[in-house]
Amino acid sequence: NSENQALIYIFGGSGDLAHRKLYPALFNLYRKDHIKHNFAVIGTARRDWSDDYYRDTILKSLTELPGSYNQKIAFTKHFYYQSHDVTDSNHYVTLRQLGDELDQKYHTQGNRVFYMAMAPKFFATIADHIKSEDLLSDQGFNRLVIEKPFGRDYESAKNLNDAISKAFKEEQIYRIDHYLGKEMVLGLLPMRFTNPMFEQVWNKQFIDNIQITLFEALGVEDRAGYYETAGALRDMVQNHVMQILALTTLERPDALNAADIRDKKRLLFQALKPYTPEQVDAKFVRGQYGASDIPEHEPAYRQENNVDPKSPIETFVAGEIDIDNDQWSGVPIYIRTGKRTPEKRTRIDIVFKPSANQIFDQPAAANILTIDVEPSEGVTLQYNGKKVGQTTTPESYLMSYHHSKEMLNEVLDAYERLILDVLVGDNTNFSHWHELEATWQFVDAIRQRWDSQAPTDFPNYKSGTAGPQAADELLAKTGRHWIYQP
Ligand code: BG6
Repeated sequence: NSENQALIYIFGGSGDLAHRKLYPALFNLYRKDHIKHNFAVIGTARRDWSDDYYRDTILKSLTELPGSYNQKIAFTKHFYYQSHDVTDSNHYVTLRQLGDELDQKYHTQGNRVFYMAMAPKFFATIADHIKSEDLLSDQGFNRLVIEKPFGRDYESAKNLNDAISKAFKEEQIYRIDHYLGKEMVLGLLPMRFTNPMFEQVWNKQFIDNIQITLFEALGVEDRAGYYETAGALRDMVQNHVMQILALTTLERPDALNAADIRDKKRLLFQALKPYTPEQVDAKFVRGQYGASDIPEHEPAYRQENNVDPKSPIETFVAGEIDIDNDQWSGVPIYIRTGKRTPEKRTRIDIVFKPSANQIFDQPAAANILTIDVEPSEGVTLQYNGKKVGQTTTPESYLMSYHHSKEMLNEVLDAYERLILDVLVGDNTNFSHWHELEATWQFVDAIRQRWDSQAPTDFPNYKSGTAGPQAADELLAKTGRHWIYQP
């Protein structure tokens, strides 16, 4: 591994995201020699912390990770803390001076990463000051990493994008969608475009429908403050579901590079026409979880901490998305995502049309290709063979391959990969503004329809079940059903 050199500013350095995801990810990159001597991190936030205190909090966030105590201590020595008021210009001058000093000390070659890991309402102010107070380096690279939520609708996303674009060019902006760092999501293009037996039939002639499921067993936990302003549509559909949908259905890119892949994603998203209110009613359903049979363990969403007891916020969405292009017109792409469903599971089911020439005494089942993203990672193909015995009757069987735990153990996790991508300058697996533009417009049409009609039937699914009945009816009305039934 060649060592990556950079000075990383983390805005929101005292926060939960930084401690849960970023520090562990950086430490793993350190352990695996992707960063070594020539890096430094400046954490900033409002609280008044010393470097030592900051390093201690980082050390605690690494408790569960492999690596010796001494290695962890050596790692935290690269971290510096600066308390910071995001609106005070003078503070940025201090940040710049500290940055210049650390740049010299750690030989980071003027490479700078600005990581926004705090409340999105400050992103624009920070970006403004980064530019006006001259924090950008003129020697190495300048890259901005920005966490979701990127806006809450098209308009706010555009305002935010305009603001950060004053300081950073599109190719310097890394908008995180951590699903794009997951092993099996990264595996979609290689699988689709190296197997002629899949590639040739990946279209409306052979595929009946596609089903994308992102289920979670957990409820809203302690994030109601944010979730009450978002809901599952904004939280999961606009970003993770849409990105998976795009990688599952985009045309073959000319080459495997950021520009070509993003180009095809853009084309795909342009083929999603925002729905009319009537289409929203016919093609999308929403749900909110009620308590399980043991309400003390799994209370209803409306009973969770900091949730409005009359909250209209959805914790479940199912829908049919139509892609208006030659490859896919007429093939429904069913999506669903929800909290407090029976288990954590992300998977994609490609349901093929049954064989057109049935010459056997019994009709054969359709082929189904299942891509398991999480928690198991692999692929299963349902195909037909002959039933064993004195018969020619077809019967379905499964061919299955899943990566072993041992194989996956040393693989970088989503955050590690994406941070490494930032350091090496590969923005393939980050969302381009064009993608956000289109996905927000698609999602806004649904949101607007829903906001105009308060849900009258919430809660409409019990904790620990696969969502409201309407999610099943969505498919049943065309004679289909969800392949994955937890
Ligand atoms: C986040 C959402 O983007 O993704 C959370 O804000 C959700 O609500 C999480 O729980 C799921 O991520 P993962 O990696 O656990 O599937």
